[in-house]
Amino acid sequence: MGTARIGAHKMLAAAEECIARCRALALHTEEPGFTTRTFLAPSMRAVHRDLGAWMHDAGMTVSVDAVGNLRGHYAGISEAAPVLWIGSHLDTVPHAGAFDGILGVVMGGKLVELLAGRRLPYAIEVVGFSEEEGVRFGFPFIGSRGLIGDLDPALLSHQDSGGVSVLEAIGQYGLPKSQDTWGPSVGYLEFHIEQGPVLESLGLSLGVVTAIAGQTRLQLTFEGRAGHAGTTPMNLRNDALACAAEWIGEVEAHACKTSGLVATVGKMEVLPGAPNVIPSLVKLTLDVRHETDATRQNAVVHCLNRAREIAEKRGVCVTSRVMLDQAAVPMSEQFIARLSDAVMNVGHSPQLFTSGAGHDAMVMARVMPAAMLFLRSPGGISHHPDESVLASDVAAALLVGLNFLENLP
Ligand code: HGY
Ligand code: MN
Ligand code: MN
Repeated sequence: MGTARIGAHKMLAAAEECIARCRALALHTEEPGFTTRTFLAPSMRAVHRDLGAWMHDAGMTVSVDAVGNLRGHYAGISEAAPVLWIGSHLDTVPHAGAFDGILGVVMGGKLVELLAGRRLPYAIEVVGFSEEEGVRFGFPFIGSRGLIGDLDPALLSHQDSGGVSVLEAIGQYGLPKSQDTWGPSVGYLEFHIEQGPVLESLGLSLGVVTAIAGQTRLQLTFEGRAGHAGTTPMNLRNDALACAAEWIGEVEAHACKTSGLVATVGKMEVLPGAPNVIPSLVKLTLDVRHETDATRQNAVVHCLNRAREIAEKRGVCVTSRVMLDQAAVPMSEQFIARLSDAVMNVGHSPQLFTSGAGHDAMVMARVMPAAMLFLRSPGGISHHPDESVLASDVAAALLVGLNFLENLP
């Protein structure tokens, strides 16, 4: 069973078309001039329309499921054939690049297109997850967790900054009520940009992910006391922002001296937010990651202890809420081996490494063998409008994908 040899020129053209499609989809945004597309935003309808059309033209049966995942089903040689899932996410961070997530969905669709009607011993389901970044509701993976049936009522009732719950957002978008269960599966494959500098620093195109680092995401609130900026002596203040700032500096220092640990305060709201008023309230987020769960968990305990100590010293009250506690997830040994073979079969060397970024593969790995193929990120840039990918690397990844498909059982 072999795919007719696809010439390098045709594969490069296919890669360039994937890139063009990603750039076209990046224009579907909530923020003209930038790419910002969160869970079930109005702009997601245009993505479903355009990407769904390409998937349909490639021979897939296209639908949108009960949590807003875009699904393209390409039947195998028999109705009972198990499913190989190929996917990634369609949502973005604010002011994103054009490739984080969506490239994996576009490439999945392109692989089906390149099969040109040929049927395999398994079906292929290309899935564009509705939400992976966690921007709208503060916790990630709504799409993939919805697919595997892991969205409990507490998560569905969680509200966004406008007071809209996940369930209400689903209703407002007009999604089907029930989520179809998923059947026998071969496994899950995700193509994704590396989002870091490693492959480029090694002069390599592709990486095979062995594990995905664990991450803890928290919301913290520092509550002090507002006061007049001109009349309140420094020693009589309960300045919530000064407290948070001292703590943030300590968080950064702790991460810098703990090998492999990353900790980020990415979002902060300061109230009342007037230049001449001592801040009374700070709401912020903390994102802590490490490939070893114990190191990550110890770091979270340390950061929370220091928050309490600094707040007490300053007469400020601090509270915290864990929004996500995601353990590190190993990829399937068998799939890592198959993907590495496929990378070598197309003439590249498979660089193995742990992903510092979280991905839907860590959710899908709970229910089936999962693997990820990374593509080089020029400049290591991601979560930024200048994020990019090289057509030659996309072409190589497509060849790896076809080789992987051909050698699955
Ligand atoms: O935050 C992450 O690790 C990914 O971009 N969702
Ligand atoms: Mn991302
Ligand atoms: Mn991503």
